[in-house]
Formats: sequence, C-alpha cells, structure tokens
Amino acid sequence: MFHTRRRVLILGGSGEAADLARRLAPRTEFDVVTSLAGRTHRPAAVPGRVRTGGFGGVEGLSACLDAEGVDAVVDATHPYAANISRHAAQACDALGIPRMQLWRPAWSAVEGDRWTEAASPDAAAEVVANTPVSQTGCVFLSTGARDLPVFSHLRAIRFLVRLVDAPRTPLPLARSELIVGRGPFALGSERTLFLERGVELLVSRNSGGATYPKLVAARELRIPVIMIKRPDPEAGPRVETAERAFRWLIESV
Ligand SMILES: NC(=O)c1ccc[n+]([C@@H]2O[C@H](COP(=O)([O-])OP(=O)(O)OC[C@H]3O[C@@H](n4cnc5c(N)ncnc54)[C@H](OP(=O)(O)O)[C@@H]3O)[C@@H](O)[C@H]2O)c1
Repeated sequence: MFHTRRRVLILGGSGEAADLARRLAPRTEFDVVTSLAGRTHRPAAVPGRVRTGGFGGVEGLSACLDAEGVDAVVDATHPYAANISRHAAQACDALGIPRMQLWRPAWSAVEGDRWTEAASPDAAAEVVANTPVSQTGCVFLSTGARDLPVFSHLRAIRFLVRLVDAPRTPLPLARSELIVGRGPFALGSERTLFLERGVELLVSRNSGGATYPKLVAARELRIPVIMIKRPDPEAGPRVETAERAFRWLIESV
C-alpha cells in the first residue's frame, strides 16, 4: 500500500529540539528536518537532517512550508526567540499546518532566592543602576550578547559577561571581563566563578532548563538576581517536554 512519510519541521536552537530529533530519528513514518538560525559558530550536534539560516520572515517561512509539503511544525526554539515563534504561528495558521510549541518550564524562585523581576532588558539595566556594587565587586551578565548594549551607559560598573561564542566586535561595555563557554555549568564551578570574580549581582533570563546551577550558586552566596521576564508564548497548543511533543506527533500527525 502507498505510504507517505509525514514531514515534520522542528524549529530548533534548544536542547529540547535536539532531544525531539533524537526521539524521531528511528521513526520511519516521519521525515524530519531541524532548522537552526545559524548564529552559533559550533552548534551542538543535532541528530538527523539539519538546515541552517533564516527563512526570510513569515513570507519566506510560509513559502518553505508550502514548497516542502510540511505536515507539522514543532516550535522548539528558545523561550526568548520570540520573532521566529511569531513567524511560525502566523505561517502555520495561514496554511492550516498543525503547530506545537515546545515551551520549557520557567524557573521559579524558592526560599533563599533574592530575585527581582525585570519586565525587559532595559528595566534590568535600571535595577542594576540602582543597586550598589562595591569597587572590587562586579555584575554578572548572563543574558546573551543581544542584551548587552542596554547596559553600556553604566560606565562605572565592572561587568562579567559569559557568552557561548567569542564576539566579533568588542563588548559594548566600558569595564568588562569576558568568559566564553557553553553550558550547562556545574554548581561547583559556578560557585567558584562567583567567588573568584567577586560577583555581587547576577542578571539572568528566565530560560529554564540546564543552566540553573548559577541560580543555586547565587542563592547559596546570598547574591541578588535580576530576572528578565520571558516574552509571552504564542497562542495555541504547548507542551513542556520533548517527550510530550514526540507523543503529539505520534498520536495526532
Ligand atoms: N534568544 C536566546 O537567548 C537563545 C538562546 C539559545 C538559543 N537560541 C536559538 O537561537 C536562534 C536565534 O535566536 P534569536 O533570539 O535571535 O531568535 P529570534 O529573534 O526569534 O529570530 C530572529 C531571526 O532568526 C531566524 N531564526 C531564528 N530561529 C531560527 C530557526 N530555528 N531556524 C531558522 N531561522 C531562525 C529568523 O530569521 P528569518 O526571519 O530570516 O526567518 C528570525 O526572524 C533561535 O533558533 C533560538 O532557538 C536563542
């Protein structure tokens, strides 16, 4: 009997996207492609077929979905990658293609945490400006390169910046130290980093997932955290794990 493999596009860039691709790899009923933006120099390995680079907005993504005959889209992008998620929602809605958002759970403060929530990177910079930091201390920015410019006017503050890739241009900060490294990082090394560099304030996104040890280190060392709020997810169905997204594909697509 004629059997058509169902085409699945995973919008990737997260550990959950790679996890889903791994689960789908042995399933012959699916023809899976994972899409990466291509921002990271050496992206973590993803099982199966991978395409790289932007689509060209909603129009480009719609044209690609249509031309490739995609049957379902799993948006497993990072929770702060709001543009691609919006494009995916608009393109899939217009074409009537089922879409599932894989939205990893956010972190919640627990006893001992000293978090201040900031609605945006700009709001976080305002909190930093109003928080006293000693001459020998520093503010740890673990927000990603895109948010750094909003801290550039804080010229007197020493920043510690950790990025996945070495930047091509100097950091837009008057006083900074750069660490290049890909997480997750162990609690012990986070604790050592905080103590050795004199971290007095941590600025973080609420990414959820495996980079949590920095928040445990901050709790243990009684270091305040400015937590930049997540953008709202797109309307529509959502699951929190790769396992659930896998089930959805098996059962509904
Ligand atoms: N934001 C973060 O903190 C973060 C952290 C870890 C990983 N990532 C991953 O890095 C990628 C870029 O993040 P971002 O914050 O720059 O996203 P974004 O602002 O939502 O996306 C910007 C543009 O990058 C392209 N793009 C993004 N994700 C893509 C994908 N999976 N496949 C093909 N094109 C993609 C799209 O270009 P076109 O309009 O040309 O299609 C999109 O309009 C995302 O895939 C995300 O999962 C982001």
